[in-house]
Amino acid sequence: MSESTFAETIAKDQRVEPRDWMPDGYRQTLIRQIAQHAHSEIIGMQPEGDWITRAPTLRRKAILLAKVQDEAGHGLYLYSAAETLGADRGDLTRRLIEGRQKYSSIFNYPTLSFADVGVIGWLVDGAAICNQVPLCRSSYGPYARAMIRICKEESFHQRQGYELLMTMMGGTPAQRDMVQDAVNRWWWPSLMMFGPPDGDSPNSARSMAWKIKRHSNDELRQRFVDMTVPQAAALGVTLPDPELRWNESRGSHDFGQPDWAELKQVISGDGPMNRQRIARRKQADSDGAWVREAAAAHAAKHRSGS
Ligand code: ACO
Repeated sequence: MSESTFAETIAKDQRVEPRDWMPDGYRQTLIRQIAQHAHSEIIGMQPEGDWITRAPTLRRKAILLAKVQDEAGHGLYLYSAAETLGADRGDLTRRLIEGRQKYSSIFNYPTLSFADVGVIGWLVDGAAICNQVPLCRSSYGPYARAMIRICKEESFHQRQGYELLMTMMGGTPAQRDMVQDAVNRWWWPSLMMFGPPDGDSPNSARSMAWKIKRHSNDELRQRFVDMTVPQAAALGVTLPDPELRWNESRGSHDFGQPDWAELKQVISGDGPMNRQRIARRKQADSDGAWVREAAAAHAAKHRSGS
């Protein structure tokens, strides 16, 4: 494959595969996005993982355990996809724990009540689905294929969150208040997951030309708002945005702007939970070092045939 065949593959909406020729910028953009995505899945285990020992029933605990394990699985598929581009998984982990590579801003907020588990499923996984379904058609084959399975699991996660919230909304006034409080805290950070506004998104134009991204940050944010408003009504919660209203002429909802300065601050490592998240990932990495060493020694022994 050459530069012209690469251009033709993109133009015809076909997939670029690991052994195909690709521009260095395309490779580096994919490694950046896939690594950030993988890190998000792995760090994303922490906010909900904090509730595993405190889940209110055995059933809720089993669901939450399975969900958090799914996130680990997503991280592993994505690190594998990054490896097909020549990245080294150990190196990516080092970059994460040294603060040299990003992960999603959303996982730097604390989970204060069990309602947060439901709201993360509904809003955070709902936003993740909006962002990730189009990535199933991303131009890089291994990434697109990983996204298909991930999206199926994310849909299940979203429904379990919504079902948990429906149950709580049918409970006591205190439980309903807990849900509303969680919605108030997670709404704006969920909108920030889609990234900065289009005019402030340095990577979008190139990533869209390469068909890595299929829609702009603002398009996906709008899609998420339109999808979520009727769900909030069915649930009986209020979305904390006084500017939110249906716009007949656009056939979409108008909505307020998140605090973009807050997004910048969280991305730069200074959000409410950034330090704790990275410290825990660092600890897990050093606690697991002996397992990696043992696995490498075992593989070496097999290779040498002894
Ligand atoms: N949190 C952290 N960093 C962000 C966020 C965010 N919510 N939004 C944007 N950024 C970063 C970008 O990574 C980029 O940083 P970099 O250039 O240093 O790598 C910078 O801010 C500017 O943003 P954009 O130019 O808009 O970046 P990009 O085109 O990569 O778009 C987006 C960002 C939409 C997150 C894109 O990378 C994407 O779709 N990624 C795949 C999905 C993903 O990672 N989801 C993770 C959370 S979902 C989950 O795990 C449940």
